Amino acid sequence: LCSAQNNSTDFLECLTSQIQASNSTQNVIYTPQNSSYSSIFQALARNLRLISTSKERPLAIITPNNESEIQATIHCAKKYDILIRVRSGGHDYEGLSYISQTPFVIVDMGNLRSILIDTDDNTAWIQTGAILGELYYTIAKTSTTLAFTAGVCPTVGVGGHFSGGGYSMISRKHGLAVDNIIDAIVINANGKILDRNSMGDDLFWAIRGGGGTSFGIVVAFKVKLVTIPETVIVFNVARTLEQNATQLVHKWQYISDKIDENLLIRVFLRSVISESSNRTIQASFTALFIGGGVGDLLQIMEENFPELGLVERDCIEMSWIESILFFAGYPNGSPINVLLKRPGDCYNNFKGKSDYVREPIPEHGLEGIWKYLNEEDENRPELQFSPYGGKLSTISESETPFPHRSGNIFMIHYDVGWSTDAQRHLNWIRSLYSYMTPFVSKSPRTAYLNYRDLDIGRNNNEGNTNYKQASVWGFKCFKNNFNRLVRVKTKVDPSNFFRNEQSIPVVVSYY
Ligand code: FDA
Repeated sequence: LCSAQNNSTDFLECLTSQIQASNSTQNVIYTPQNSSYSSIFQALARNLRLISTSKERPLAIITPNNESEIQATIHCAKKYDILIRVRSGGHDYEGLSYISQTPFVIVDMGNLRSILIDTDDNTAWIQTGAILGELYYTIAKTSTTLAFTAGVCPTVGVGGHFSGGGYSMISRKHGLAVDNIIDAIVINANGKILDRNSMGDDLFWAIRGGGGTSFGIVVAFKVKLVTIPETVIVFNVARTLEQNATQLVHKWQYISDKIDENLLIRVFLRSVISESSNRTIQASFTALFIGGGVGDLLQIMEENFPELGLVERDCIEMSWIESILFFAGYPNGSPINVLLKRPGDCYNNFKGKSDYVREPIPEHGLEGIWKYLNEEDENRPELQFSPYGGKLSTISESETPFPHRSGNIFMIHYDVGWSTDAQRHLNWIRSLYSYMTPFVSKSPRTAYLNYRDLDIGRNNNEGNTNYKQASVWGFKCFKNNFNRLVRVKTKVDPSNFFRNEQSIPVVVSYY
């Protein structure tokens, strides 16, 4: 304990002197002695479940304004053996960007959020402290025919999202965020600033899906923007069990990954009270079409999914940026500057999990899911089925560390929130996950890194591990790419400086 305290005092002295030497005029280091420390920490920590179960608080929160302040933090943390947690948007489901069981500091990237768009070659440099809403807003202010393929929730951070995948409503046409990254600025464990050329192919490959934290602090990504029609079409059609929801979801599994890649139909499943006051399941078919007019969309639906009964009045024409607001749940006509609102008021207790489905789930399997959904009484949980196929299946499994490509029909996202009785809700989601075993991918049962779930395997609390222990979760998230990630990690960070409960291990030997 004594040595840990000495280390933290020495660390803070080291950092303060380095940052003062750089003549920074703004406050960059917040320790528990600062009156704003608690409020800043609370604003950073989104998942209340983790705050209540973890006693450790950061020795300091560092809010760098430039690369040299990040270098200073790495230098002092390495010297005094202090763990760094890097936070961009703070959406990590297990709080790995702001919680640790051992002494640590948080590097909060929030001040580094510039976005520079180049319309000559349709690219953008985006600092990792930006949130997706800021990116979408900036693109829309620049052009009505450019877009980017990344997540639906505007408060998600670029840093975590881009380094783990990044699935969007246009992913069937344009792939994931990682598929469109063309350069990056990373600061490694030696404090060196690297770009694509100087980091080399292996590290550039690893940070596009392998999770940023294992390899360094990513300061910025350069991406290729995608072109989008001036008008797109959205629909959201809800059907209950009384309106054949089971049969519709069953059929959706046969068409959702094969249909025109300009059309992405996601399904949201939740338990609701029906018009006749009975509890029922509602399946909401929520879609974006970027391949033509309403007539084209209706024709595709008639040929592939007539059972849904989509009609013209269900289809709403709008711009791409309006569709971003639509999917984020903003009321029609909201100004686009609501996308600039940074996280701050939507915190709760929650747990999420993921699965991939490679064979359609039979109707009796779906009915079992409905029973689970009807069981939960508080903060009704939701399942999301997100279709793959299209461009996602044309990219090889080893092109980026994100391996979930051809052969996956859709991804399942499980989510439960609560205000009391955490254990009961955790038991519920784990029991549902267990029930799903026969219906989802096997050997390994794969998972999406960005829907972080420590139930599928974890390193030790301080982040150290061996290959065998890390393989348990590593092959689920990366399949055979895990071995290449381990080789890259061993090369670029042999002392395992950047580590957490699901970071890539360093190996001396594979067993
Ligand atoms: P956060 O800051 O918590 O970082 C996540 C991880 O990345 C942590 O381990 C962190 O240390 C590391 N990290 C962050 N910045 C880094 C940096 N600059 N350098 C190195 N490492 C860094 N996903 C999806 O694909 N499509 C979607 O539509 C959505 N929607 C969605 C909605 C909501 C409400 C939530 C909570 C989550 C999603 N996600 C998602 C999942 C999301 O992609 C995932 O949680 C990301 O990791 C979040 O990135 P943040 O930067 O916000 O998280």
